[in-house]
Amino acid sequence: MRLRTLRNGVNLSGKRVLLRIDANVPIAKGKAADGPHGKIARAAVDIEWLRQRGAKVIVMTHLGRPGGKRVPAYSVRPVAKRLSGLLVTEVRVAHDIVGPSARRLVRQMKNGDVIMLENVRFDPGEERNSTALADALSQLGDIYMNDAFAVSHRAHASVDAITSELTSYAGPQLATEVEVLERVMRHPKHPFVLVMGGLKMKDKLPVLRSLAPEADRVIVGGALAHAFFAAQEREIGRSAYDQNGVADARKILGEWGGKIWLPTDVVVAKSLRKDASRRTVAVEDIRKTDRVVDVGPETLRRYKEEIQRAKMVVWNGPFGYCEREPFCAGSFEIARAIASRTRSAVTVVGGGDTIPVVEAAGVADRFTLLSTGGGAMLEFLAGEKMPGIKALEV
Ligand code: 3PG
Repeated sequence: MRLRTLRNGVNLSGKRVLLRIDANVPIAKGKAADGPHGKIARAAVDIEWLRQRGAKVIVMTHLGRPGGKRVPAYSVRPVAKRLSGLLVTEVRVAHDIVGPSARRLVRQMKNGDVIMLENVRFDPGEERNSTALADALSQLGDIYMNDAFAVSHRAHASVDAITSELTSYAGPQLATEVEVLERVMRHPKHPFVLVMGGLKMKDKLPVLRSLAPEADRVIVGGALAHAFFAAQEREIGRSAYDQNGVADARKILGEWGGKIWLPTDVVVAKSLRKDASRRTVAVEDIRKTDRVVDVGPETLRRYKEEIQRAKMVVWNGPFGYCEREPFCAGSFEIARAIASRTRSAVTVVGGGDTIPVVEAAGVADRFTLLSTGGGAMLEFLAGEKMPGIKALEV
């Protein structure tokens, strides 16, 4: 797949670049929770590239799912504040998306300035992929750039319809994500180890269907493993699991059981408090009152051996209850094991929940690709057409 990208030689001086980013990060106490390798930090690099070339950068993002209404808790102001700090320049925020405030701010811009439009999902036209909204957005810019791989699976106005209104380009991050993920799908290297954690079977199933036949080993952890345990009619105590995923887990085991590895030992706790006492037990010994919060040492040893042999590793979803750091030890070890393969293997890590884990493990910059996309990465790897990307093909 060849995407239209902006070459170094293109004259951007004075051009209004309407840039779609994905700054959909949790907001805690009015602050955007975004680490040094987070979505906003990475978007800042590309915004700076445009500024250096004299562009006027008009940034658009969604935040949360406000459902087409103005919801103050989902204002992009905390995102603009984080961007201002990273870019060391004031990023002003329009009160609206395509209204008088946005138009006034755009008119006032000088070369190298950056402004943000309010949350595009405050407009009901965004999720309806409205041509009218796309047309109004296009009045604000001269060219459009999509650097939001993580939302490119959505046929929304600022991702899809807008590409019919303005000359459109793939941003550098999006182009890299597509290039590496395509390599994974078209030219898998063997041994290929697929590492799946997280919770929802529905989200992971299409990728399992698409990549499991090619993978030499599928290693499963986190709450996802509990659905497989339930399918095997094992006791999982009070552990979180996706009840709707049990039937699918049974089918997967029936089809690819030989290559699917599940934990053989786990860490259990009585509650999810971070100071709750913990024990390591064999999976057969999980009690009714236990909650599984992490994978055990024997499981980690087996999993790491597989990773050490791999020539390609794809990982999505944490292996423990990483909301509490003491329960994330297994995920940290998996993160470090995968990172240590990057010189000799293609290593791809993705998912909104996985980025903070690899940051906390200190290895976020040590993968072939740290994808910003959670759902988007899974859809891409499942071979689905993504509207935002299709529109950028040459
Ligand atoms: C994400 O965080 O995965 C993207 O921003 C997509 O968000 P959405 O699932 O609300 O479309």
